[in-house]
Amino acid sequence: MTPAARAGDSVAAIDTPALVIDLDAMERNIARMAAFAAAQRLRLRPHAKTHKCAAIAALQLAAGAVGVCVQKLGEAEALAERGVNDIYLTNEIVDRAKLSRLAALASRITLSVAVDSALGIDRLAQALKGSRASVTVFVEIDVGHGRCGVAPAASGALAHQVVSHGMRFGGLQAYQGRAQHLRGDAERSAAIAHAVALVRAAQASITSAGIACPLVTGAGTGSFVHEAASGIYGELQAGSYIFMDRDYADNQPSAGAPLFEQALFVKTQVMSWGTSHVVLDAGHKAHAIDSGLPVVWGRDHAVANGGDEHTVLRRGPSGAELPALGETVWLVPGHCDPTVNLHDHFIGVRGGLDDGRVESVWAIDARGALR
Ligand SMILES: Cc1ncc(COP(=O)(O)O)c(C=O)c1O
Repeated sequence: MTPAARAGDSVAAIDTPALVIDLDAMERNIARMAAFAAAQRLRLRPHAKTHKCAAIAALQLAAGAVGVCVQKLGEAEALAERGVNDIYLTNEIVDRAKLSRLAALASRITLSVAVDSALGIDRLAQALKGSRASVTVFVEIDVGHGRCGVAPAASGALAHQVVSHGMRFGGLQAYQGRAQHLRGDAERSAAIAHAVALVRAAQASITSAGIACPLVTGAGTGSFVHEAASGIYGELQAGSYIFMDRDYADNQPSAGAPLFEQALFVKTQVMSWGTSHVVLDAGHKAHAIDSGLPVVWGRDHAVANGGDEHTVLRRGPSGAELPALGETVWLVPGHCDPTVNLHDHFIGVRGGLDDGRVESVWAIDARGALR
């Protein structure tokens, strides 16, 4: 689909709905997270499932990231195709056909992958047999997320199996996803304290199998301050910090966390006007609502779901006038990652949403890369 704008256009000329990045805000977010990780002497490997875009990964790498994470093999392939050459797939793959793709990719870039089963490790080793490719393997433990990962006590046996196949054991994947949107910082701190205790138990299991655990990797935008303070995590995987969203804005900030600004917006316009409500030309095909509805940037209008193609605004607590027919309204998406996956392009604006100009139009390279 043709992008909603071209480089050099005014913000006013961006067609709607469009996924717009405030480049100044995004660059400050990148720099602040990089500075935090450097000050803590931690590796930063941002999760690229947030932006799925090689041009943005390049900015994170230039700011000091050691590589990027992805969640899907197809994401890794799309980013590698466009020059990203150090990728960690923070997810399990057991399918043989996918594992041969993974082996092919590993012959071109530096690749790591997570495992949480004996079958997965055996199949990965088989897929790599005969190829000169090598993959670094992280054993995932469940640190309270209730998703992938084994119990800490099972990690030593899996690490041993990785090493017995002649593969490089990278350490532990220990991401606590449920902690990210606990609203209170004390709750997030407690959830990560529990995760850290489980990581220590897993390290003991690995040591007693006679294997060294080189790295513990994990953390997201809601909790990374606590993983960083633990002294046990060596690498941070946060992704959403680069854009932020309404769900993260609803979190109570953590003491010591850098300030992250809202950098991702859906530009919409009022397409229908009534005395009690107005209707925008973007619904949940333009912004994901799995984490709740978007909010209007800078105004307190009440937002209602108008369906696939519409969003409805009513007066908010301040009673401020509703926007006029044709007026621009900037939505802050409820959840950044799946919102990005709905669009073909980012429109990057320099100089602010009011008077700025379009500086970059980036393809969302790994959009739809579910396999
Ligand atoms: C394994 C893993 N690591 C890191 C992240 C990054 O989290 P966030 O985007 O909330 O910073 C995620 C997000 O779901 C994840 O699944």
